[in-house]
Amino acid sequence: MRFGGVLAALLLTAAPLQAAAPPPKPPANDDCLACHEDPSAKRANGSSVAVDKAAFASSVHGAAGASCVDCHQDLAKTADFPHPEKLAVVDCASCHASEVADYEKSVHAAERGKSKASKAAWCTDCHGIHDIRPSKDPASRTNHFNLPTTCLKCHGNLAVVPSAGGPPVNQPALFHDSIHGRALERSGLKFAPNCSNCHGAHAIRNPKTDPESAVFRTKIPATCGTCHEKILAEYSDSIHGTQLAKGNAKVPVCSDCHTAHAITDSSDARRLAILHQCGGCHETSLATYRDTYHGQVNAMGFSRIATCADCHTAHQIHPAGDPRASVAPANRLRTCQKCHAGATANFSRYDPHANTHDKGRSRLLWATALFMRILLAGVFAFFGIHTVLWFPRSVKARVDANRKGRGAGDGRGEA
Ligand code: HEC
Ligand code: HEC
Ligand code: HEC
Ligand code: HEC
Ligand code: HEC
Ligand code: HEC
Ligand code: HEC
Ligand code: HEC
Ligand code: HEC
Ligand code: HEC
Ligand code: HEC
Repeated sequence: MRFGGVLAALLLTAAPLQAAAPPPKPPANDDCLACHEDPSAKRANGSSVAVDKAAFASSVHGAAGASCVDCHQDLAKTADFPHPEKLAVVDCASCHASEVADYEKSVHAAERGKSKASKAAWCTDCHGIHDIRPSKDPASRTNHFNLPTTCLKCHGNLAVVPSAGGPPVNQPALFHDSIHGRALERSGLKFAPNCSNCHGAHAIRNPKTDPESAVFRTKIPATCGTCHEKILAEYSDSIHGTQLAKGNAKVPVCSDCHTAHAITDSSDARRLAILHQCGGCHETSLATYRDTYHGQVNAMGFSRIATCADCHTAHQIHPAGDPRASVAPANRLRTCQKCHAGATANFSRYDPHANTHDKGRSRLLWATALFMRILLAGVFAFFGIHTVLWFPRSVKARVDANRKGRGAGDGRGEA
């Protein structure tokens, strides 16, 4: 939209009136700037009402020929200055109806609706006031590379947005150091996501409570998948993805394993961390893994040892009975050979989740363990009975010895 067009439309509707009596000319920008250009212009309470003329001229509105009263419409017909102290709040919707309609759906709008004192974002918090620039301008607050800084003014400041329960860690602030944050802000990678790629720009919703949020739990894979397309396809096909599609809310989504804002690359630290994530849900598998050689070595902090995802893959996890599974009998040897180059079919029969309590799983192991338990119990029982039976005898022997000692007179010399 062009301001010329707006003015032409206004002139057209005003044309019949004009013939009768010319309406008062709307104040020009210079009329306003006569007072407001002064950097020391203040309200009665001391707060500034100065407007930077140059910044306004180079803003998207100034450059499009906007006049002050296009926005400050209550002064459009004023010729008397000074004007009233209190003026109406500028209505962006008169020109940007669709952005305002989207914004009205957001958690920010809802928070502001609840309380006048809310610090939730309004148009000017993200865009500025008189210095608004189009998002594609590298100096714009909403430019792809600058947006995290704009959002984190509030979301990185616990005084503005207190952390929702839990420990006082500011989750979104971790973004700067995440692989996405570094790719965006340091490597200048335009394909790296900023806040709005995952949350949207205007209709930002509460991810915990609003199913329409792009990062509501069940929507997270699709949102990450807008960029990580191939991984989304693999995940959707896996046991976790197919169960999610069936409404099983207990399966992991991307952010359960990767976090939302502190995503890192495939570092050793992450390999160890992911173990705990799988194990948080698969407690028995973690316990049996811990008992194995791999688990024991892993517990010592050696990260090159096989962890869950090395055998099961990260995104193409299938039950062992599914022929596509990396741990299916036909594929197992190849999986072990990733690290044990010389492994044979026999080697791959080693059970990575050996469970001595599970007879169905491995009869031999179960029987061996049972034998060991019986042996142990037997040994304890034998020596236990032995000790119990021996006790009266040893008491009697002690009593006899004491008597003998007293009979000898001073009780000394015996020892
Ligand atoms: C004669 C000097 C003068 C002129 C001309 C003038 N203003 Fe002001 N304006 C002021 C002063 C002084 C204040 C501070 C009022 C107060 O004490 O709160 C102010 C306040 C404002 C405010 C803040 C109102 C609020 O609710 O806080 C706006 C917006 C504004 N002016 C816009 C304009 C526009 C647009 C024009 C041109 C149409 C204009 N002014 C012309 C002196 C002027
Ligand atoms: C694109 C719309 C727009 C245009 C054009 C515009 N303003 Fe504003 N102005 C605003 C908004 C938004 C505010 C913040 C207060 C509010 O929400 O009403 C504001 C606030 C002000 C204030 C109060 C001080 C402040 O910074 O909060 C003054 C004074 C003011 N404008 C003067 C001007 C003058 C003078 C011009 C022309 C040179 C102008 N404005 C052009 C939107 C606009
Ligand atoms: C002017 C400060 C401010 C700015 C800028 C801001 N927000 Fe917010 N935002 C808030 C406040 C305040 C809330 C309500 C927090 C609360 O009470 O839980 C909120 C709520 C949210 C929520 C809902 C979750 C929650 O904690 O309630 C999300 C998601 C969100 N903002 C994302 C963003 C994104 C993304 C940006 C940048 C595009 C952004 N915000 C910019 C202040 C801001
Ligand atoms: C939480 C931050 C935030 C708030 C609040 C916000 N915007 Fe935006 N706005 C953005 C971002 C980010 C973009 C850039 C979107 C993109 O690149 O796709 C944008 C883009 C725009 C655009 C350009 C549209 C386009 O397609 O490039 C307009 C116009 C706009 N906003 C107006 C508004 C208005 C009016 C409001 C108040 C109702 C508002 N915005 C509130 C962050 C915000
Ligand atoms: C009188 C109509 C009018 C009002 C009121 C108005 N704008 Fe604009 N706005 C425009 C026009 C015209 C453009 C330039 C569009 C273009 O060049 O494509 C624009 C451009 C923008 C852009 C840049 C869009 C882009 O291409 O990235 C943003 C952001 C924006 N406005 C935000 C706001 C905000 C925030 C408010 C309220 C404070 C507001 N506007 C009030 C008419 C208006
Ligand atoms: C790669 C996608 C992605 C990016 C980029 C991203 N977020 Fe998030 N964000 C999420 C997901 C997913 C959740 C939901 C986390 C959950 O439910 O545990 C979330 C949750 C949130 C919340 C809700 C409070 C919380 O911590 O749970 C806020 C606020 C938020 N993000 C703000 C931001 C801000 C600000 C940025 C930019 C600095 C940003 N996010 C960047 C995906 C992202
Ligand atoms: C069950 C846990 C889990 C889930 C769910 C998960 N991932 Fe992963 N992801 C991993 C593991 C484990 C790795 C590999 C770590 C390693 O081997 O160093 C990985 C690696 C990655 C990589 C890096 C590629 C590589 O091999 O280094 C990307 C990108 C990725 N995941 C994105 C996603 C996306 C997008 C989703 C959701 C569609 C997702 N992940 C779901 C556990 C998970
Ligand atoms: C806008 C596109 C985009 C979105 C959306 C996105 N990512 Fe990424 N992601 C990237 C890019 C680009 C990189 C590569 C950064 C680099 O290597 O410097 C990356 C890197 C990663 C990595 C590290 C890969 C490695 O090398 O080990 C992981 C893990 C990851 N993303 C997970 C996620 C998850 C989980 C989500 C959703 C919560 C998500 N991404 C959303 C673009 C995106
Ligand atoms: C050395 C490779 C290896 C490692 C490491 C490994 N697994 Fe397994 N996992 C297997 C094999 C092989 C099977 C199939 C066993 C079978 O057929 O009975 C399996 C089976 C499973 C099953 C299917 C249930 C079952 O008992 O059949 C789950 C769940 C599982 N593993 C989870 C995990 C988790 C969680 C971890 C990490 C704590 C992990 N695995 C580590 C190889 C491994
Ligand atoms: C948020 C919880 C959660 C996390 C984290 C998780 N899983 Fe799962 N997993 C599930 C659920 C739920 C199922 C499907 C229901 C079922 O079969 O028990 C499942 C199914 C499986 C199966 C098929 C089990 C079978 O009985 O056939 C394997 C194998 C598996 N997961 C391995 C892993 C591995 C490896 C990781 C880590 C990389 C992991 N899971 C992370 C919850 C989780
Ligand atoms: C990510 C790499 C990796 C994968 C995959 C892997 N292992 Fe291992 N494994 C190791 C490392 C490292 C050691 C310790 C070094 C050594 O002794 O070879 C080890 C040790 C072992 C040991 C004890 C020592 C030995 O060599 O006898 C057994 C048994 C074993 N692995 C079985 C398996 C089986 C079976 C599979 C496939 C289901 C498998 N591993 C998959 C890395 C791996």
